Amino acid sequence: MAKINKKNQVIVGLQWGDEGKGKIIDYLSKGVDYIVRFQGGNNAGHTVVVDGEKFIFHLIPSGILRKDKVCVIGNGVVVDPEVLVHEIETLKKSGITITPKNLKLSYYSHLIMPYHKNLDILREGARVNKIGTTKRGIGPCYVDKLTRCGIRLIDLIDPKRLYSKLKDNVLEKNVLVEKIFGSKKISFSKILEEYSSYAKILKPFCEDVVELLYQANKNNKSILFEGAQGTFLDVDFGTYPFVTSSNTIAQNASVGSGFPFSAINRVIGVTKAYTTRVGEGPFPTEIKTKYSDFLREKGSEFGATTGRPRRCGWLDLVLLRRSVIINGVDSLVLTKLDVLDNIKDIDLCVGYSYKGKKIKGFPLDIDNWDKIKPLYKTVKGWSGDIENVRDYKKLPSEARDYIRIIEDYTGVPIEIVSVGSKREAVILRG
Ligand code: GDP
Ligand code: IMO
Ligand code: MG
Repeated sequence: MAKINKKNQVIVGLQWGDEGKGKIIDYLSKGVDYIVRFQGGNNAGHTVVVDGEKFIFHLIPSGILRKDKVCVIGNGVVVDPEVLVHEIETLKKSGITITPKNLKLSYYSHLIMPYHKNLDILREGARVNKIGTTKRGIGPCYVDKLTRCGIRLIDLIDPKRLYSKLKDNVLEKNVLVEKIFGSKKISFSKILEEYSSYAKILKPFCEDVVELLYQANKNNKSILFEGAQGTFLDVDFGTYPFVTSSNTIAQNASVGSGFPFSAINRVIGVTKAYTTRVGEGPFPTEIKTKYSDFLREKGSEFGATTGRPRRCGWLDLVLLRRSVIINGVDSLVLTKLDVLDNIKDIDLCVGYSYKGKKIKGFPLDIDNWDKIKPLYKTVKGWSGDIENVRDYKKLPSEARDYIRIIEDYTGVPIEIVSVGSKREAVILRG
C-alpha cells in the first residue's frame, strides 16, 4: 500500500456519545473526499444544522450534505435496511442527492433483522441490571456476527442465500423467542418478503469497499472516518456492561472498513464542555441538582435517536485523559462551550477519591464507581453569550482559561471550539 502524505483522519467521541460528532464531521467533510462509517448502527444519531434545517443521521455518514463527496458504510456497521431505505428516501425528499455514486455500502455489513430488534427488547426486559439500550437490535446483531450466523448485504442480494440463511435463523430464534421469553413467533415469509424488497433498492449501492478506499488513497484522496457512540461505550474499554456492542475507538476504523491503520494519520477526539450519558451505567460527575435541568434545557440534551432525556454532569478530566490515551488523540474538538455561558462557577473533575482517599491511577472496577467521589477544581465562569464569537482571542478570558485547563490536563491541543449547533458556529485555532 502506497503511503500518501495526505491526511486520513478518524473522528471519535471521547465520552458516552452525543459529543457533537455529526456537526464536526459535517464541518470537516468540506475539505475531504470520502466519509466512512465503520461501526455501530442506527443506535447513532448525528445532528447537523444547516441554514436552519436540522438533519439527524443514523446510518448515512454526516458528510452526505456536502456535494461531490463519497459516503461509505463499512463492513463494521450493522445495517437495518428498513432504516437505511427510509433515511435515503427522507434525505432525497429534502433535496439531498443520494445515488450509488455518492453512497457506497460494504457487501460485508451485517444486517439487523426484525428478530434482533425483538430480542433486544426481550433481553432488556428480562434483565435485572438493565443497560438502557436503544432497542434497535444492535447487540443481538453483533452476537450473530460473532457466532457466525449473521446475514450480510452480500446474502441479502442473493435470493437463494437469503432464503436458506433466514430459514436457519428463524428456526433458532423462534425457540428463543417462544420457549425462553414466552413471546410471539416470528414469521419467516413476512421477513423474506420485506427483506427481498430492500435487496432490490440497496443492491446498486453495494461496493467492494476495500478496493474503493485503496484506490482513493492511491489517488491522493483524503478519507475521514466517522466514529459513532463514544469511548466509554466501547465494548472493551467502556463502562462494561453498560456499553454498546462494538469497539467505538479509533483503532476500529481500520477493521470496520478494511483500510490499513498504517495509512490513517490523525485521530481527532470530540468532547463536550461538560458530560452527558443516555441509558444506564455509572457516571461519576452526574449532577443531581438544578444545574442538571439547566444544562439539559440549554444544551437540548435529549437523545437524537430515542428522544430520552440525557443525564448531565460536569466535565470529567479523568475520563477524558483516559480516552485521549486509548485513542491516541492528536487533536481535540471542544463542543457546546456556549452551553456553559453565564454559569457563575464551573466544576471540573480532576481526580477521584474512594473512602476519603485520593485514588491513584484509573479506577478499573466500575462496580465500585458508585462509591467513588469526584474531586473538583472550581473555576470562574464567564458572563455573556459566546455563540457568535468566531475569533479565539474574542472569547472571554475565563472561557480561554477553561480551554487551557483541559489542554494542560490531557496534553492535547484543542484545535476547534464549537459554540452553537449551526454549521458556522465554530472557532478554529492555529
Ligand atoms: P453526535 O451523536 O455526537 O453527533 O451528537 P448529537 O447530534 O447526538 O448531539 C449533539 C447535539 O448538540 C445536537 O443537537 C447538535 O445540534 C448540538 N450541538 C453540536 N455542537 C453544538 C455546540 O457547540 N453548541 C450547542 N449549543 N449545540 C451543539
Ligand atoms: P451517537 O453516535 C449516546 C447507548 C445507549 C445504551 C448503550 C447500549 O449518537 O453518539 P445499544 O442500543 O447500542 O445496545 O445501547 O449505548 N448508546 C448511545 N448513547 N449516543 C449514541 O450514539 C449511542 N448509541 C448507543 O443509550 O446506554
Ligand atoms: Mg448522537
